[in-house]
Amino acid sequence: MILKKPPQPVKLLKWPVFFEATYAHSKAFAFVLDQYNDFIKAGFADTELAFGNSNMVVYVLDLDKVVGASVWSYDKLKRSAWILFSAVLPSYRGKGVYKALNAEIERRAKNLGAIALYSGMHVDNEPMVTAAAHSGRALNWYRARKALA
Ligand SMILES: CC(C)(COP(=O)(O)OP(=O)(O)OC[C@H]1O[C@@H](n2cnc3c(N)ncnc32)[C@H](O)[C@@H]1OP(=O)(O)O)[C@@H](O)C(=O)NCCC(=O)NCCS
Repeated sequence: MILKKPPQPVKLLKWPVFFEATYAHSKAFAFVLDQYNDFIKAGFADTELAFGNSNMVVYVLDLDKVVGASVWSYDKLKRSAWILFSAVLPSYRGKGVYKALNAEIERRAKNLGAIALYSGMHVDNEPMVTAAAHSGRALNWYRARKALA
């Protein structure tokens, strides 16, 4: 029998950040879906998931509890990494968890050869707009939408 080696944490900004190659099989699976539900209720999500089963994930554990996670992807041809969805448990916000997640994605993206890191966010999602800016990502595109149905 082959035993799966547990993911090893990377210590960043006091939070231990873990990586798993497929979100669907990760320890963060339920956390992300749970948080995505709140995200929909807040009116910041489209009526589709922003990520898929096979995307990568980084997450922070406090003891054995997932308190924050980012699902992300890497496009080798475009040499671009995309943060597809991030969430931090409300009681852990403002404590640098998102910053730690970002730092680990950046480190891994650079190792993969990335020359840029992108994320999208709802225009009214003020905390995310600010958190992205504080993480060094400047807004560079607007997206326009007209409902047809
Ligand atoms: C956005 C979110 C992920 C930030 O997580 P967090 O762990 O609280 O963020 P951090 O504590 O690591 O802060 C990172 C930076 O953003 C700033 N920031 C975070 N939340 C902020 C807020 N509500 N208002 C203003 N600035 C904020 C911090 O000051 C910090 O900047 P600094 O490094 O210059 O001090 C969190 O609020 C969240 O989970 N929101 C709900 C889910 C969501 O909207 N996800 C976005 C999907 S696109």
